[in-house]
Formats: sequence, structure tokens, C-alpha cells
Amino acid sequence: VKSIAVLTSGGDSQGMNAAVRAVVRSALYHGVRVYGVQRGYQGLINNDINEMDLRSVGDIIQRGGTILQTARSKEFMTPEGQQQGADNLRAHGIDGLVVIGGDGSYQGANKLNKLGIKTMCLPGTIDNDIPFTDFTIGFDTAVSIVVDAINKLRDTMTSHERSSVVEVMGRHCGEIALYSGLASGAETILVPEVTYDVNEIATRMSDNFAHGKRHSIILVAEGAGKGDDIARQIMEHNGIDARVTVLGHIQRGGTPTHSDRILASRLGDFAVRKLIEGDSGKSVGVVKGELVATDIDLVVNTKRPFNMELYNLALRLSQ
Ligand code: F6P
Repeated sequence: VKSIAVLTSGGDSQGMNAAVRAVVRSALYHGVRVYGVQRGYQGLINNDINEMDLRSVGDIIQRGGTILQTARSKEFMTPEGQQQGADNLRAHGIDGLVVIGGDGSYQGANKLNKLGIKTMCLPGTIDNDIPFTDFTIGFDTAVSIVVDAINKLRDTMTSHERSSVVEVMGRHCGEIALYSGLASGAETILVPEVTYDVNEIATRMSDNFAHGKRHSIILVAEGAGKGDDIARQIMEHNGIDARVTVLGHIQRGGTPTHSDRILASRLGDFAVRKLIEGDSGKSVGVVKGELVATDIDLVVNTKRPFNMELYNLALRLSQ
């Protein structure tokens, strides 16, 4: 490839900027021209494509969000929208594309790849729901934010001997709840991958209080239920008034951790090198410390396995 473009798409995540920086700097290092597409696939359709240079990505490695902006484009889901996007890239002489985003963004990249644009995907989502990589860009930062919030909640919950229900992001995937629950010692972790019985949870909660616990934290992934509903059901069962905190978009902002910046830098550079080698239609990731590239087709058709080992560990340690 002689000329590539980079875009960010879907929900943003911390570390996307570090990934954009790595793509741009790595491309220029290898003598490849590089363009930034604004607002994801919608910008591709609208021809919002601008050439970038070394300075375009200065002072962004530490910033949350994405300087390229992001969007969820309905128009790009149509064959006409996809063709328009491919045509616009070709009109700029661009033959390679790096897409940074989550599962929806991967579907779009797959379509463009089939239209002849050499495409590479980077897993950029706080959800950690992309398979064939140990972690996605943004997940580590999101988990740190949740852990920090729970530390704070714990202080006041303990003083008042109260219970807290904390709702975190993850529509189809409980990884944020699992990792932050294990790291913060939450008593209960509710995830979409594992069925649960609120009555059992409520009984365990009252038993725990009777045996000297001074607080109780229930962490629920949004895909496993609404914090308010769970708190109400607990109240109906054991009479304990659990306070609800919905962390929401706080989880998607702020400066990325060093782990997310390093992951983003490695993956951005790797994706560019793969394109230069002539590879395409791949998702890049890190598995057990090693860089890997997997067919996008396989990635979009595989469900990431839930880590039951960590889940059971959290259960054992939260008595
Ligand atoms: O996919 C990332 C994510 O943050 C999910 O965890 C969440 O369910 C969703 O995006 C929220 O999307 P938005 O607020 O952008 O509509």
C-alpha cells in the first residue's frame, strides 16, 4: 500500500488517540501517506477525509476520546453507503484502511474489505468483548475507573453499614463487571453470561450483615439487569435499602492507563506493518503477550468465551 486511512467508530474508548497516533507515525515512518477520516464510517460517506502528518497526532497519547471523532452510521449499514465509502477512499488514492472500534465497526470493515479496500481492525472498546485478543483498548482504563468509584463508595457504605448496587457498562459482556468486581472485592457480580437469583443474593446479604459485614457491594453489568430493579427486588426480599449508583459514560472518559497506551501503540504499528506486507481483512490483537492477526470473518462470528475461572475466584474470595 502507498496510502492508508484511519478512522475510529462506534463507542469511543480511552487509548483510541494513542492508537491513531501509532497508525499515523508508523505509516509515515515507513514512507506511507496517511489520512484521517472524521466521524467514523459516516465521515467516509461524507468524504470527510484529510491528510495527516507527524504533528497532527502530537500531544494526544494521554487524551481520552478520539481526535477523529466517532459515530454510529446507519447509512453505512446499506450496500450503497459501503460502496460510497469505498469509492471516496479510492478517489483519494487510498488503498488501505485501519478501523479502530468494537464489534459493529468490525462488521463495516469486513464489508469494505470485500469491496477491495485492504482493511485492518483494532479492538477499540471498553467492553473487552472482542475475541482473539486478551484485552481491548480502553478496557483497562474503564476497569480502573470502576475500581476507583467502588473504593469511594465503600468508604461511605461502611460508615453507614449500607449496601450498594453499582451498575456498569457491558450490554452483552460482563468483563468490566467481572474484572472490577474481583479487583474491588465486590460481594456479588452479576453478568449477562451467568444466570442469577436475586432472592439468593438478598438472603446472602442479610446473612453477611448478621455475621459482621459492614457493607455489601453488588456489581451489575447493564446487560444483566438495571441497578434500580435489582435494588427494588432486594428490598422486597430482605428489607435492606440498597443505594444505586449508575456509573454510565464516566467509564468511557479520562486519560488512558499506561497499559491501554502501550496496547494501542503496539496494535496501531502492527496493523500498519501488516498492511505494508500486503495483508488485509484481519483484526490485530495481543494473546499471551504476542501480537496476532486473525481473519475479521472469524472474529465477528466468534463469541468471546467468558472467564469462568475469574468469576469463580471472585465468588470464593467474596464470602
Ligand atoms: O460498546 C461500548 C459501550 O460503552 C457499551 O458498554 C455501552 O452499552 C454502550 O457503548 C453505550 O453506548 P452509547 O452511550 O454510545 O450509545
